[in-house]
Amino acid sequence: MLFLQLVLFAVLLPGGDSEDDFQETISFQIILTTSFYNRSQTQNQGSAWLDELQTHGWDSKTGAFIYLQPWSKGNFSNEELTEVEKLFYTYSIRSPSVYHNHVTEWQLEYPFQVQLVLGCDSHFGEASVGFMRIAYQGSDLMSFQNTSWWPSPEGGSRAQQVCTVFNQYHVSSEIVHKLLIDSCPRFLLGLLNAGKAYLQRQVRPEAWLSAGPSPGPGRLLLVCHVSGFYPKPVWVMWMRGEQKQRGTQRGDLLPHADGTWYLQMSLDVKAREAAGLSWPRDTAV
Ligand SMILES: *[C@@H]1O[C@H](CO)[C@@H](O)[C@H](O)[C@H]1NC(C)=O
Ligand SMILES: *[C@@H]1O[C@H](CO)[C@@H](O)[C@H](O)[C@H]1NC(C)=O
Ligand SMILES: *[C@@H]1O[C@H](CO)[C@@H](O)[C@H](O)[C@H]1NC(C)=O
Repeated sequence: MLFLQLVLFAVLLPGGDSEDDFQETISFQIILTTSFYNRSQTQNQGSAWLDELQTHGWDSKTGAFIYLQPWSKGNFSNEELTEVEKLFYTYSIRSPSVYHNHVTEWQLEYPFQVQLVLGCDSHFGEASVGFMRIAYQGSDLMSFQNTSWWPSPEGGSRAQQVCTVFNQYHVSSEIVHKLLIDSCPRFLLGLLNAGKAYLQRQVRPEAWLSAGPSPGPGRLLLVCHVSGFYPKPVWVMWMRGEQKQRGTQRGDLLPHADGTWYLQMSLDVKAREAAGLSWPRDTAV
């Protein structure tokens, strides 16, 4: 009788017990999306992310940051956070009027969206100088380098015109420059340090099996569910004895609300090959 054996390996990142720095590149990004409905109606949505984990929300009415993790303030003082909050709020109020005022010149058509991303990366515990980019309708328009805005090639002549106008705001350019070379990298390192226990935790998955919809006569779809693991890198494979089974289908890595991950791996087998294989039939996804 043939039997299938499931061997599960969760490859977890090393570290944890020493003063290890983070092993990979982690990026911190603030995203501000402005939706321009018409000349009088604009809506802002802001959030901040550490890779795929949202660390901050934002109340667009009051301009207040919403700290989603107990460590979301990093090591910044309330004064410094308030200062950044003010900058961000002022930008969110003032910048839309620049677009509204140049609608015809820049050939913008309501409704449209402008997205801003500002962030920096940490690699092996060293933070890089930050970056800032603006996109129009989801495609790159311009990026901030050194002390000024530069048009993206795909932005065409519109990008050049927008840069020219934005570069006239010298005070803002200096503030942005400081944010990118100083505040962002410093905040990111403080944030990684404050959130270390959470970010470097290791959570083992639970795994269970079920049968998926039959792929055809005499065939079975075996589904392995791997749920609740952290960090994200994971190695899951259907094995028979020592042999990896070809034809394993890997699903998308899906997030749980608690920041852990879920993955499905399915295998299409002949029904008789699966005979004798048992799995908990009463479990549900
Ligand atoms: C602007 O858009 C908003 C939301 O779609 C709408 O309620 C409002 O009537 C519009 N105003 C004008 C002047 O078109
Ligand atoms: C950045 O700007 C400063 C001041 O304008 C200039 O001196 C410096 O050469 C620039 N650096 C780069 C890499 O463009
Ligand atoms: C926060 O931590 C970073 C990295 O360790 C450090 O450079 C910075 O001085 C600390 N304090 C503040 C207020 O940024």
